[in-house]
Amino acid sequence: MLIRDEIPSDAPAIGRVVTEAMRLLPQATGTEAAIVERLRAAGAMTLSLVAEEDGAVIGHLAASDARVGEEDGWGLIGPLAVTPPRRLQGVGSALMAEALRRLRKTCRGAVLVGDPGYYRRFGFRTFPRLTVEGCPPEVVLALPFGAAEPVGEMIHHPAFGLDQEA
Ligand SMILES: CC(C)(COP(=O)(O)OP(=O)(O)OC[C@H]1O[C@@H](n2cnc3c(N)ncnc32)[C@H](O)[C@@H]1OP(=O)(O)O)[C@@H](O)C(=O)NCCC(=O)NCCS
Repeated sequence: MLIRDEIPSDAPAIGRVVTEAMRLLPQATGTEAAIVERLRAAGAMTLSLVAEEDGAVIGHLAASDARVGEEDGWGLIGPLAVTPPRRLQGVGSALMAEALRRLRKTCRGAVLVGDPGYYRRFGFRTFPRLTVEGCPPEVVLALPFGAAEPVGEMIHHPAFGLDQEA
């Protein structure tokens, strides 16, 4: 398996992997592939990593810039998707490891909204004052790279369609 940056010809395969992966997820909105497309169109994906095997895209991770409270410089991870037949074989972990390695060089920390049962293994956790309006606090997670804690609302790029103050 190879983890590499997206190239232009990957876009349709990434869309398929994201759609397939999210279809099984109860909290999925069905708009995750469109979020990736909108982030790409806006030039807002700071990372678009693909996992490739035998020439096929089997996983994808997007990251974009986010603000937390008044602070820029956070790297927001998501969506993360692995094609269903290749789940539980380390693909998501490999994408995340590479994403965190890269974000460490440029960001204060990584943030995301997701299942703590999965993301805890990478060091993500909740913080008492980190929020996303409308999200249960237990799924609002961060991994600061320094000592400072994230404080305030996690503001996603408008491509997520969350209707937050940009
Ligand atoms: C969640 C997802 C990205 C994980 O990718 P993956 O390649 O299957 O995960 P890995 O093989 O790297 O899993 C590593 C570990 O996490 C565990 N794990 C995987 N998915 C999990 C989940 N949803 N909840 C809790 N633990 C999970 C695995 O059991 C494994 O544990 P182990 O190391 O103790 O054996 C993938 O299952 C997926 O695309 N799911 C649907 C979309 C989704 O939920 N995306 C995240 C929210 S945007």
